[in-house]
Amino acid sequence: MQLDETLVELRGRFEAALQNAADARALDAVRVAFLGRSGEVTLLRRSIGKLPAAERPGAGQRINEAVAGMEALLQSAQDRLDAQSVGATLEQQIDVTFPAIAPKSGSIHPMKRVMHDVCAYFERQGFAVVVGPEMEPDYYNFDALNIPPDHPAREGFDSFFVTPSLLLRPHTSPMQIRTMQQHRPPVAVVVPGTCYRRDAVDARHLFQFNQCEGLLVDEGVHMGHLKGMLTGMCREIFGAEQQVRFRPSYFPFTEPSAEVDTTCPLCRGEGGECRMCGGSGWIELGGAGMVHPNVLRNVDYDPSVYSGWAFGFGLERMALVRYDVDDIRRFFENDSAFLEQLA
Ligand code: FA5
Repeated sequence: MQLDETLVELRGRFEAALQNAADARALDAVRVAFLGRSGEVTLLRRSIGKLPAAERPGAGQRINEAVAGMEALLQSAQDRLDAQSVGATLEQQIDVTFPAIAPKSGSIHPMKRVMHDVCAYFERQGFAVVVGPEMEPDYYNFDALNIPPDHPAREGFDSFFVTPSLLLRPHTSPMQIRTMQQHRPPVAVVVPGTCYRRDAVDARHLFQFNQCEGLLVDEGVHMGHLKGMLTGMCREIFGAEQQVRFRPSYFPFTEPSAEVDTTCPLCRGEGGECRMCGGSGWIELGGAGMVHPNVLRNVDYDPSVYSGWAFGFGLERMALVRYDVDDIRRFFENDSAFLEQLA
């Protein structure tokens, strides 16, 4: 009678333990605790030896029946856990009706697109595209461009010196010299590339920016050709409505010299307190002019036979205008939200 009560109580605890087992590991712990080699049922079996001989077979049989019932309960608990884990796995399955994540694709930087389009315009007119070093000896950057030592114009084109006579180029104009040294006229090249200056950074200035230089030297080249080509380029890049003006200026390497301005993209020519144009209503795109006779002499071209024009335009400035951007720093910040808008 006492054994029967013990078996009922044991089964009760076994059932409760099975119900609390939340995973396979917990279930196995229950099995070991009750049905394992040192488990409670085994201890109970051992106690049979203390019973009178006549009672032992009956007791053994009742324990075996109880164990069979417990094993059946264990199996169904096992089945329940298996079913739960299959359900969880199914829940994790991919929902093929869910909208897919679109693959991210890059795009050409807006300044590079302007660079490409400027070069393409000049290539159509028969110009070659060449590139040059970003670090230049001061001979190419100053002397050969008719800027002798101690000339005040050196200040404006001062940049970052690597050695006392080697600097990061502040403009692409040194490539005028390198090109003319290598080729006899006629010469027609455009030179896109990165430049560096000690300029304070603001809405229209960067310390690192890009220019596109242009150079044409031949017999009979004059300022009218320059004006026509640059006007055509601006029309192509900005559209025919964008206003462009040529204003007299000074560069030691051109004579006469001009600067080319366009309507400020921020105030649209209103001026006032505009932080982009400082109130003038215009921003400068580049410098240009007829190649100075001294520059031609420096490369052994005879200025009485040949004449030429050159220009250097800021490509970020052109991109500002083309894409109607309010600050030149956006082209340098690499903010993908901004770049994606212009992609
Ligand atoms: C020059 O660099 C001359 N080499 C251009 C030239 C070439 C004149 C050939 C005559 C013949 P300038 O310093 O004005 O000129 O610069 C030309 C253009 O580069 C500017 O109009 C502007 O568009 C751009 N630029 C100059 N400095 C910066 C800067 N700090 N940040 C962004 N763009 C700049």
